[in-house]
Amino acid sequence: MHVIALNHDIDFQGWREAARALALNNVAPEDVTWSVANQDLSLFQPTRLPEIEQGATFNVPAAFVELAQTAILHQTPDRFGLLYRVLWRLRRCPDLLEVSTDADMSRLRSLVKDVRRDEHKMHAFVRFREFGDGRDSRFVAWFEPTHHIVELAAPFFERRFCDIPWSILTPERCAHWDGHRTIFTEGARKTDAPSSDPLEDIWRTYYASIFNPARLKIKAMQTEMPRKYWRNLPEASLIDPLIQKASRTTQAMIARDAPEPRPSQQRKEVPMAKHPAQDNLTALRAEAADCRACHLWKDATQTVFGEGPRHAPIMLVGEQPGDKEDLAGKPFVGPAGQVLNRALEDAGIERDKVYVTNAVKHFKFVPRGKIRLHQKPSTPEIKACRQWYERERAVIKPLLVVAMGATAAQSVFGKITPIGKNRGHLIDLEDAKALVTVHPSYLLRLPDADAKEREYEAFVEDLKIAASFLRRRHAA
Ligand code: URA
Repeated sequence: MHVIALNHDIDFQGWREAARALALNNVAPEDVTWSVANQDLSLFQPTRLPEIEQGATFNVPAAFVELAQTAILHQTPDRFGLLYRVLWRLRRCPDLLEVSTDADMSRLRSLVKDVRRDEHKMHAFVRFREFGDGRDSRFVAWFEPTHHIVELAAPFFERRFCDIPWSILTPERCAHWDGHRTIFTEGARKTDAPSSDPLEDIWRTYYASIFNPARLKIKAMQTEMPRKYWRNLPEASLIDPLIQKASRTTQAMIARDAPEPRPSQQRKEVPMAKHPAQDNLTALRAEAADCRACHLWKDATQTVFGEGPRHAPIMLVGEQPGDKEDLAGKPFVGPAGQVLNRALEDAGIERDKVYVTNAVKHFKFVPRGKIRLHQKPSTPEIKACRQWYERERAVIKPLLVVAMGATAAQSVFGKITPIGKNRGHLIDLEDAKALVTVHPSYLLRLPDADAKEREYEAFVEDLKIAASFLRRRHAA
């Protein structure tokens, strides 16, 4: 029996050297016991590593090394043995990583997932409190990760808070950033971190004001923010009372009359002009400019019609113009348009080769002071506007229609079509294919940076499906 004692919990280098020596000496996984020095988990004294014969070597796929570096951060004591077993089996079965039904591989992937989730939670739920005054002040946070992730998570905070000195204390490991580099020290106690600071009242007021009772989904919220993190979150004390009040507040919101747009914002009632039924884009655009099919034209500045090449192979459909689009008269020129442009570029699609339009062609909003607050279009409004989408599509004849968000999907499919269930694969329309994905504004609304990044990547992945569909059609 070989007894290996690694130097510490995340001693990947030590594990790698030991695994290499053991594998090159044909030591089977069941003949090795792994432990961490000073943790006294093993009943046996550590043994010396077997010598490696000169020149003996072997390779493992880079993807395994990547998985192993993450999985070793898991707190489960059997991770070292599992990693060695996979390494051992990889030498005999180089395609093991691809075998999704293999029990070892599925366990390895689940460890990696746990670690990534813990890292993501640390990014989202670390709350700094100011400690000390003036030039000596430092931002200190207390956090209790489940796995050994402090080193893994630290670069995110270095990038995000590069110009303030901070420390993140955890029971096992602490990270301290001085503006230039991070140093890591032994674990700390919760009482070493400050328990509150004056900024927390401001943070709580902000949280209460952005909490939207009408959008409350308790289950989703608890999955994203499990209770175990609440004890270190200043805003957590508000969550239960806000949830309890949510239904009453929502009823009151519904009962309240919607404010009338200011008279200066309302356009005069003019009947819909009669246009000869021509189906070319210029004529359609002119006809849509006078659309009165629903009431939204009254408060909007103008109809925002689609834009793009007459025979574009892809038609992108959004929800409705926003504030900037309403003023410019062009779709997707505001913040959501910027996200869309970046994602198209990342997916390898040129924006000026696609036709971009919206399911609803007038901006729907309520005035709040100087701001015009976006309102989701209702089903009758989507239906009333659908004629324009259909006629645009009949002229463009795209090979693929990409519906971004629920309103677009409802218009494209003519019925409510949930995004989660339908995204990510091509769907047959009568004379084209369709692809469903999220709306770029959804990415802008996500409050935490990690979720934003993750969802952005998923959005780009969806757009890549469109890009590869087009490549295949061009190649055919
Ligand atoms: N959101 C949309 O759906 N369309 C736009 O044109 C802008 C924002």
